[in-house]
Amino acid sequence: MEDERKKLPPHSPEEVDASRRQFLRNLGVTAAMASLLSSGAVLEERRAKRAQAETLQTQPGGAPALRGTVTVTLQVNGKEHALQIEPRVTLLDALRDHLGLTGTKRVCDRGSCGACTVLLDGKPVYSCSVLAVDAQGRRIETVESLAQGEQLHPLQQAFVERDALMCGFCTPGFIMSLKALLDRTPQPTLQQVKEACAGNICRCGTYNRIFEAAIAAAQSVRRGG
Ligand code: FES
Ligand code: FES
Repeated sequence: MEDERKKLPPHSPEEVDASRRQFLRNLGVTAAMASLLSSGAVLEERRAKRAQAETLQTQPGGAPALRGTVTVTLQVNGKEHALQIEPRVTLLDALRDHLGLTGTKRVCDRGSCGACTVLLDGKPVYSCSVLAVDAQGRRIETVESLAQGEQLHPLQQAFVERDALMCGFCTPGFIMSLKALLDRTPQPTLQQVKEACAGNICRCGTYNRIFEAAIAAAQSVRRGG
């Protein structure tokens, strides 16, 4: 069989020129497509990297982490709370601003007045001077844990009955310091009461009534509340 290609007429100069132009045109289209494809690939790569970065910032449990924050788990009044906070946040700020437990007061915010006293594993601490991250794994008790519904804790009841507060800003701190005392010493002396409150300041000067309330509360606890 005769080779078909031999039957094709030779290309004229015009045909050769036209085919060269077509070739160059095709080359341009191909280059543009390649450029489009590669810019699409770059975008896709960027998207993948962003997704990867977001995944890396996601904490266990799926909660998205904000830049500069850590997950802090606090056990407050018998309940566990996972907070997404900056490491510099104090226990006081975590309680008040992140958990809404505003019974604990901020007065001096520098470890000198005792208004922010809470119990850590049963011991009184200034919550303004403890970082929330350092309170992880500890049992935290705030003044909100004392009353059971309408039933006040004997200390709260005694403060009311003995008129042991004026402005009340120092009261939650005094009550938590005294709770720590009564938990370990059910029958405290007046001297022990005073020592237990040594880290608390009452600017209204209701000390004597606070001490009386503490002794009365101890008697009430011994009688069974
Ligand atoms: S507010 Fe913490 S000691 Fe004064
Ligand atoms: S009752 Fe006002 S500071 Fe104590």
